Amino acid sequence: MRVLGIESSCDETGVAIYDSEQGLLGHELYSQIQVHSEYGGVVPELASRDHVRKLIPLIDSLLKSCDSEDRIDAIAYTEGPGLIGALMVGACAGRALAYAWGIPAIGVHHMEGHLLAPLLEDSPPSFPFVALLVSGGHTQLVQVEAIGKYTLLGESLDDAAGEAFDKAAKMMDLDYPGGPNIAKLAEHGSAERFKFPRPMCDRPGLDFSFSGLKTFTLNTVTKHAQVNGLPDDQCCADIAFAFQEAVVDTLVIKCRRALQACDYSRLVIAGGVSANKRLREKLEAALAKMNATVFYARPELCTDNGAMIAFAGHQRLQAGLSSDLSVQVKPRWAMEDLPPLDSVNSESEGA
Ligand code: KG4
Ligand code: ZN
Repeated sequence: MRVLGIESSCDETGVAIYDSEQGLLGHELYSQIQVHSEYGGVVPELASRDHVRKLIPLIDSLLKSCDSEDRIDAIAYTEGPGLIGALMVGACAGRALAYAWGIPAIGVHHMEGHLLAPLLEDSPPSFPFVALLVSGGHTQLVQVEAIGKYTLLGESLDDAAGEAFDKAAKMMDLDYPGGPNIAKLAEHGSAERFKFPRPMCDRPGLDFSFSGLKTFTLNTVTKHAQVNGLPDDQCCADIAFAFQEAVVDTLVIKCRRALQACDYSRLVIAGGVSANKRLREKLEAALAKMNATVFYARPELCTDNGAMIAFAGHQRLQAGLSSDLSVQVKPRWAMEDLPPLDSVNSESEGA
């Protein structure tokens, strides 16, 4: 089965083709970063309009480059969660193309897409595992028994980890999205200068809170601000370092706790923040000490992309599921509400 995947939940237009036998045939991405950069964050209406402009040419180019113009068997599109207008563009295009081509279509949960992306890599994790989903909108620890069998173990009570990165970056006048820019700046930061708090780590539980850390960062920036309103370059780098260490350490502590609570030895990290090198390094070191392994996707499949939607849709389509002709999108959607896939699960257990 050859599936065309469409991702349009936020500010990235992503398309991909996944084939049952040959795996990922290709994927293309158009990022709207430039469109939103002058506003310091995503402007929903501009996002929808840009998806309208870019989606069909992107699909066209992908079909040609993968020599798949007449060979698509099904379409998977992101149904939610995300920005309603942006989701509508991908869902309408996907549903309409499927109708015109006389093939099935399926709406995919964006976070399930992220969660399954590491399964596209060469040594995929087998089930069960704990997943840390860290994106711009979500920070969740999930017990994953099989595809579709998800139990939420903990989540952020306020800002998501990626959102905290973005806001901290903005305080230091760094461009959106802030995560990669903070990470880059932190490479020149000193480990000695600042120590930021590790929120909610001194009490039991698997929830997170990043808003206090955000305030702490703002206070540090303000305290060291000079005439231009910003600390000097070295001080910004030191703040970026301390901020990143605090987020990473907090995530590592909670991941270890979650693995112990489930008595699992595999951790999957997914979503934009899982591209963070420091997070990968520190998790690898911490998990090695407990004989556990961390799995993640290549960086381009950590942030939003069409490949994860094509793959997640493929798993559900293969299990016989598909969506009806109505176009539905779900701006808010709990992953636990997804049905489990028994037929796919039994295949994956030996993976
Ligand atoms: O998964 P994603 O592309 O979109 C959502 O579903 O939200 O995640 C985007 C988030 C942004 O907040 C961005 O700052 C963050 O992921 N991010 C990073 C890195 N790359 C992207 N955060 C920290 N370090 C990175 N290298
Ligand atoms: Zn995402």
